[in-house]
Amino acid sequence: MQLSVVILAAGQGKRMNSDSAKVLQPLAGRPLLQHVIDTARGLLPTTIYVVYGHGGAQVQAALAHEHIEWILQADQLGTGHAVMQAMCVIPDDHTVLVLYGDVPLIRTPSLAKLIAAADAGALSLLSMCPDDATGYGRIVRDAAGHVIAIVEQKDAGPEQLQIREANSGLLAAPAARLREWLLGLGRNNSQREYYLTDVVAGAVQAGIRVDAVQTAHAAEVMGVNDKVQLAQVEALYRRERAEELMLAGATLADPTRIDIRGDVEVGRDVFIDINAVFTGPVRLGRGVKIGPNCIISNSQIGAGTEVFANSIIDHASVAENCRIGPFARVRPDTVLQHDVHIGNFVEVKASEIGAYAKANHLSYVGDARVGSGVNVGAGSITCNYDGKNKWPTVIEDDVFIGSGSMLVAPVRIGAGATIGAGSTITQNAPGGELTLTRAKEVTIAGWERPGKFSDEDKAAAIDAALTRPKP
Ligand code: UD1
Ligand code: CA
Repeated sequence: MQLSVVILAAGQGKRMNSDSAKVLQPLAGRPLLQHVIDTARGLLPTTIYVVYGHGGAQVQAALAHEHIEWILQADQLGTGHAVMQAMCVIPDDHTVLVLYGDVPLIRTPSLAKLIAAADAGALSLLSMCPDDATGYGRIVRDAAGHVIAIVEQKDAGPEQLQIREANSGLLAAPAARLREWLLGLGRNNSQREYYLTDVVAGAVQAGIRVDAVQTAHAAEVMGVNDKVQLAQVEALYRRERAEELMLAGATLADPTRIDIRGDVEVGRDVFIDINAVFTGPVRLGRGVKIGPNCIISNSQIGAGTEVFANSIIDHASVAENCRIGPFARVRPDTVLQHDVHIGNFVEVKASEIGAYAKANHLSYVGDARVGSGVNVGAGSITCNYDGKNKWPTVIEDDVFIGSGSMLVAPVRIGAGATIGAGSTITQNAPGGELTLTRAKEVTIAGWERPGKFSDEDKAAAIDAALTRPKP
């Protein structure tokens, strides 16, 4: 059976107190709605419809990269009305699955059950038994246990309010039947809305089976209405991802203090210390160690590499057995070959660093090709920017760059060359030789350190100094 997914996302989300639409609020760095769309995609539907209303332009812009059909619901007259807007374009022989844009943790297995029941002609609902069902519609069953209605909290009598089984809102049904039941909806209820839940009565009347599939995980049907619930959903998401990593063999110093935003793949025996943030996709090879407070995005890190505390790695490829940090910043388009050391307060950008090369302290290496076995001394940098253009630096194999050197790009340092400490290199340095620039060292005999100035003397001295003509 072909599948049409309808995602309801027209609600305003007043309780967010936010300028951005509710379904654009971020979960793990991506809009709530994005999570729902991703899950829907996994079901291989023919079409995904998103019913939008409030903040429509904003929502469409944020999801412009998605291939979805946008359905405008100009007035929010209720969930039934919202689904009806999409029914105009859904073929009769499809199965329709209704999801909510603000229920982001829903999982594929539950949805597969709903779809299977609907494929067989039933109306199927996803229900749950939360500790506190306040606010939810209640599933009403007859003596034989058949679902006969859903009654909203605001319309329920005292007895119905005792019912523990609640409606998640998510459902599936054959398109032709759903359309018929929706056409039969009225607004004769406390909210003057077209309730999607009233299709149950339609199905019962028509003698169609109504299945309520109970989810074991209350979390997956949790809706997000305010920032408190947003944080709760974030915590649940975080825990799920952390558990996945642990089951894949990673050791986490504290599973409650790791943030996984996007796909992270780990080899065996990876260790991740506290407060690591991963933005996917990230691949960590066997035995990789990640120190506390590291941020790693869109990167792969080879087996045996150790990343020390407070380091940032973004869009980079790091090979095996490297040592990075503490306090290192590896920026986009960097490739580190195996056994490279990038030490504290070292920034590397758009550079390829050869095997066994080291830049251990306080360096900037940008737009450079660094050969194998190179040593970049403390405080040495590539001066890659002339104020308008970025220029490359080539440092060939086995070069030794003395501390505090400025390599003014474009420039090439030949294989095996040594650059004397404190040099400013503006021309290519030949391989195998020592090249250096160095100001002459002088000693001023009898010079004394200044004493403490009075405020008046200091003001006069400043005045004199700043108005003194150039010599
Ligand atoms: C709905 C269900 C309730 C269920 C609960 C689960 C109905 C009548 N009630 O109630 O049984 O327990 O969800 O959370 O369906 N929306 C639109 N257009 C509208 C109205 C809503 O797109 O005109 C969207 C909202 O953006 C939201 C979803 O539909 O994503 C649910 O709407 P909401 O108002 O939160 O439903 P509830 O009243 O909580
Ligand atoms: Ca409502």
